[in-house]
Amino acid sequence: MLEHYFTNNEALKSELKIIDYKYKEHVFHFNSDNGVFSKNKIDFGSRLLVETFLNQNDKKIEKILDVGCGYGFMGIVLSKILKCSATLIDVNKRAVHLTKMNIKENRVEAESFVSDIYETVTEKYDCIITNPPIRAGKEVVLNILKNASIYLQEEGILWFVIRKDQGAKSIKKEIEKIYETNIVKKDKGFYIINAKKKLT
Ligand SMILES: C[S@@+](CC[C@H](N)C(=O)[O-])C[C@H]1O[C@@H](n2cnc3c(N)ncnc32)[C@H](O)[C@@H]1O
Repeated sequence: MLEHYFTNNEALKSELKIIDYKYKEHVFHFNSDNGVFSKNKIDFGSRLLVETFLNQNDKKIEKILDVGCGYGFMGIVLSKILKCSATLIDVNKRAVHLTKMNIKENRVEAESFVSDIYETVTEKYDCIITNPPIRAGKEVVLNILKNASIYLQEEGILWFVIRKDQGAKSIKKEIEKIYETNIVKKDKGFYIINAKKKLT
């Protein structure tokens, strides 16, 4: 049977590997393994999201939520550089296990737990970031993006990456009832979009 990176297959053989990443003077090491997204290298879209965020965000961030965290690249890098606390969630148990290892490895103020979308999330955040699981289907992606508004503080902001050929424009349109959206970067067919809750 075809296994997706988001399915929990505990029988899948473990082959731990380390992926290095550097941003300016900050050096990071990530444990990765079979059965998680982009297991051999940092995903281009995730890297573009993090680096665009670091270049463009001018808001003071204190608490960040990384939805569909994989082995924790985005939340861990932002937590370290912005000196904010991070919560990293994923439905994939192995991804959460690796994220917990990577939180320790990179010494950041963060926590990670298993969550099917927002099922076990109880707090509110000033920023939510996600490289959503396109392969899980549009319903899951829209659930992550639309319901982020429930877990964002009043002035909170959602940042996400999506490819043009994976429906970036139609997804952006579908969330425009809830958010004011901006495409803040385009590179190699990847769009970085930020979305601010419309005031009610
Ligand atoms: C495109 S990957 C991004 C991974 C990671 N953020 C990165 O940058 O490498 C999407 C992630 O969403 C997770 N995911 C899929 N369905 C989910 C769900 N229902 N709830 C939470 N996470 C989910 C997958 O396991 C995967 O780790």
